[in-house]
Amino acid sequence: MTLTPTASDPAGEQLPEPTSLDEVKGWFFPADQVLFDWFLTRQNELTEPGDLLEIGAYMGKSAIFMGGYLRDGDTFTVCDLFDSPAEDDANSAEMRYSYSTLTRRSFESNYLSFHDELPQVIQGLSSLVRDRVQAASCRFAHVDGSHLYEHVRGDIEDTRALLHPHGIVALDDYRSEHCPGVAAAVWGAVATGGLNPVCVTGTKLYGTWGDPAPVREQLLEFLAGRDDMWHGVEEVAGDRLVRVKGTSAVPPAHPRSRHHREEPQVAEEVAPIPLAEQPAPAPRRRSPLRRLALNVLPPFVSKGFVRLRAALRHEA
Ligand SMILES: C[S@@+](CC[C@H](N)C(=O)[O-])C[C@H]1O[C@@H](n2cnc3c(N)ncnc32)[C@H](O)[C@@H]1O
Repeated sequence: MTLTPTASDPAGEQLPEPTSLDEVKGWFFPADQVLFDWFLTRQNELTEPGDLLEIGAYMGKSAIFMGGYLRDGDTFTVCDLFDSPAEDDANSAEMRYSYSTLTRRSFESNYLSFHDELPQVIQGLSSLVRDRVQAASCRFAHVDGSHLYEHVRGDIEDTRALLHPHGIVALDDYRSEHCPGVAAAVWGAVATGGLNPVCVTGTKLYGTWGDPAPVREQLLEFLAGRDDMWHGVEEVAGDRLVRVKGTSAVPPAHPRSRHHREEPQVAEEVAPIPLAEQPAPAPRRRSPLRRLALNVLPPFVSKGFVRLRAALRHEA
């Protein structure tokens, strides 16, 4: 489906028209942009088949970014409650507290500012995803929906079923103190659910249910060449885990907005000329008659003459 973004929807609501990805509200930071770019580009270079999935899109910041890696024939599925009611009190409270102004129309307007076609959107609970996406069909999934333990545990189990054997999952908020349920679900999947972590940033854990060694070793080679990101390796749950610190990470190129405007050329600034170098003002030019009157008549007569001339000019 191809839609043209409009500034307002039929209800008159002002819809966003971001001129760059930085203008889209969200929580998708440069270090993770670098890693999404690396994982998705690697899959494209290896021509790994598979679709993309995102659970929790909000205004579309990470979805817009992921949409830039779609190849012909790939499907991108995005699931979010948007403005639909959640089904349990805790999830409703989470929605009211964190995402009160979220609407599907805003997401779509943002997304269509950067891409010609919307992804396949599932508006509703993430538990719907498993029945709408084919098993083992995805190569990359971003899980960034509810922060509640039961929901996240379900999202991780579903993602395991939807990823193909070498697929990569990026799990948001795996260690934040404001959402301990996410940490419990993520590390539970590592401890007992067969999830192999590959690397962590301050915000996301990247893992696979396949063999993590080949992708991890290539990632280490890539990180060795990055001066803008620190990395180290730690032994966790019997395997090597790459830690990435990217507070100064330089983000990769973003998809370009159709509302992007070229900066107008700034006119070359002209330095002020010092007073001493400024040309002298042009001498006052007086008519010959006036010059004669000023030179030969006594001052009181010449002043009267000047006033009379000014009055006559004024009347004319
Ligand atoms: C942290 S935001 C996503 C941020 C986005 N990925 C980004 O990078 O900007 C979490 C999103 O999950 C959605 N969400 C919360 N609970 C959900 C649930 N049970 N099912 C589906 N989506 C849910 C919210 O509506 C919200 O848009």
